[in-house]
Formats: sequence, C-alpha cells, structure tokens
Amino acid sequence: QHTIRSMAEDEQMLFGTAMRYQPFSDDSGYRELIKNEFNAVTIENEMKMELVMPERGKYDFSQADEMVQFADENGLQVRGHTLVWERIPWWLDQGNFTRDEITNLLKEYVQTTVKQYQGRIYAWDVVNEAFDNKGNLKENFWLQHIGSDYIELAFRWAKEADPDALLFYNDYENEVPSAKTEATIKWLSELRQKGVPIDGIGMQMHLDIANDFHVDQVQNVMNQMEQEGFLVHITELDIKLQHSGEDLETKQQLQAERYAEIMKVCLQQATCDSFTVWGAADPYSWIGFTEEPGASVAYPLLFDDKLKRKPAYKAIKAIFKED
Ligand code: G3I
Repeated sequence: QHTIRSMAEDEQMLFGTAMRYQPFSDDSGYRELIKNEFNAVTIENEMKMELVMPERGKYDFSQADEMVQFADENGLQVRGHTLVWERIPWWLDQGNFTRDEITNLLKEYVQTTVKQYQGRIYAWDVVNEAFDNKGNLKENFWLQHIGSDYIELAFRWAKEADPDALLFYNDYENEVPSAKTEATIKWLSELRQKGVPIDGIGMQMHLDIANDFHVDQVQNVMNQMEQEGFLVHITELDIKLQHSGEDLETKQQLQAERYAEIMKVCLQQATCDSFTVWGAADPYSWIGFTEEPGASVAYPLLFDDKLKRKPAYKAIKAIFKED
C-alpha cells in the first residue's frame, strides 16, 4: 500500500510531522505511526531553550538526543526547532544581566545546541516569530536586551556551528499578503543582501477551516519569497475545525480539500520540498478539545484518535496521484 511518505520520496520531498517526547517515550503506536508514515520530524518542544537550559549554564539534551537517534535509525530527516524565540526559561526572564552577558549567553547557547546535532539536522528554525502583525519587531526579551541585531547574530552564529544545515526564519500568518508578510520579506531580504546566512522562510500555517482561505494568495507570497532568493518550507501545518456533531463529516471534507490544495501548491513551487504537519494524530495536537457538551474544536491533523487515516490524508494522497 502506498503511503504519502513513499509518494513524497518519489518527488524528493520531505513529509514531516512534529514529534514530542511525550508520547514518543511511552507509546510504541505513536512511534510506529511516525516511522511508517513520515520521512521527517520536527522536534516539537525538546530543543527549545526552556527545556534545553533549565538552569543557567546547564544543558539537558537527553530528550532531544533520544528523539534524534530514533529519527536517524529510521531514516527520518530532522528539523531543529527553535533557537531564538520569545519564550525563554524563567531564570533568564527574572535574572539581572547586562547586554554583554545576554549576548554571550545567547551565542553560547545557539552554538552549543547547533553543534550538539551538527550534520544531523537538515534545517534549523533559527529565529521564530519575531514580527508582530503590524510588521514591527516584537518587543521580546532579545529585542529589549540585545537590540534588533539579535536576528542577524543568531543566523551568523548558527552558520558557524553547522555550515551544512539550512537556516530558516519561521513564523505564523506569513502565508498571505499582509503588513507582517511584507515587512518580513523586506527585513530578511535586506539581511540576506548584506550576507547574513538566511536560507529560507518557514510558513507555519496554523489554519482554521472557519476562516477564508485563498490558495492563490499563498502561491503569490511563496513566489515573492522565492524571487528574493529564499527557500519556502511549510513547517507547522494544521487545520482546526469546530463542529456540532452532525456536521463533522462535512467539516472534515472541507478540511481535507484545504490540506490537498496546500500540498498541491507546495508541489508546484520550486523550493517547497518540505511539508510538515504540527503533530502526527489529533490527540497529540497542541490544540486542545473544548469541554462544552455537543461542540468540539480541533481535530486538526491527518490521523484520528485511533491513529487511523482521515479524509485529509486521502485527499493529500490523491494529489500525488494526479501529479
Ligand atoms: O510535558 C509537560 C507535562 O509534563 C506537564 O504535565 C504539562 C502540564 O502543563 O505540560 C507539558 O508540557 C507542555 C508541552 O507543550 C508538551 O505538551 C508545556 O506546558 C506547553 O507549554 C508546551 O506547549 C508547546 C508550545 O509550543 C510552547 O512551547 C506545544 O506543545 C507546541 O506544539 C507549541 O508549538 C508552537 C511552535 O513551537 C511555534 N509555533 C506555534 C506552535 C503552536 O503554539
């Protein structure tokens, strides 16, 4: 039986999922699903600073190490996620540090983490979610303490530590034209022109079937990014839905169509050779379920709570056959 994994491989494409330590560590069904159905994983949380550096100067790669080893053993490519983000460990947030101390700490952190997995990561999400929806840099810890240079520094440091990994800027709501998207492209292009090693832009794509969606807009933005020299990867796709019970089937059909159009666009683009969904099966999505009787949200992924293929899975598969 053909899997999307095997069909993606025929197109030299990575079909990935986010993978997290729990349930990875205690659910063999979850591990089987991932190795059978995907050829790439993104480490969902275990390479984040909060988990890697629980105390100042103390590194803990134990969970990420196990996950990367599993990926290596099963022929799965690994995406590193994420080096510089607004979410930081509590001791850093509450500490009292000078600008130099924070700059040195971030440099050491980025380089230690990248070196830990040197040669085993196809792409790093180096900087995550740095722009607000007006297109300004978010007032995060790094902007406040280092200044706007933190972005280019992070890419340069990562490049020194692993010259072979692709280096990405990753964000949500950058797949459609908006002030945020425009500012992101402009800012990153300027950095690239002055030699900052930024290979690509990750479109997270956390979507909701209740919202308007125009796939031609996504294609336009991808084209614009590619014209500026960036690779474009889909990095965290999920499509949530809200249903009342009787309309679940209809909603899942809409969800399936949307997944399929996104895969279709990705296949048409010159650089979109990595397509990652943010979780392997519905129960492991970061999006919770409501407690309200009779109304449920989410069901955002490609496999259901029994780890069975959903209509969205089949719709994506059909796109490969068409292709
Ligand atoms: O593992 C602990 C568990 O031991 C504890 O009992 C439980 C109680 O809170 O928390 C568990 O950790 C949670 C972890 O997810 C695993 O489920 C953390 O609290 C929670 O903060 C963490 O949320 C993650 C979130 O990023 C924040 O780091 C989500 O899983 C993860 O999917 C989400 O991913 C982000 C991307 O990194 C960036 N783009 C948006 C995306 C969705 O928010």
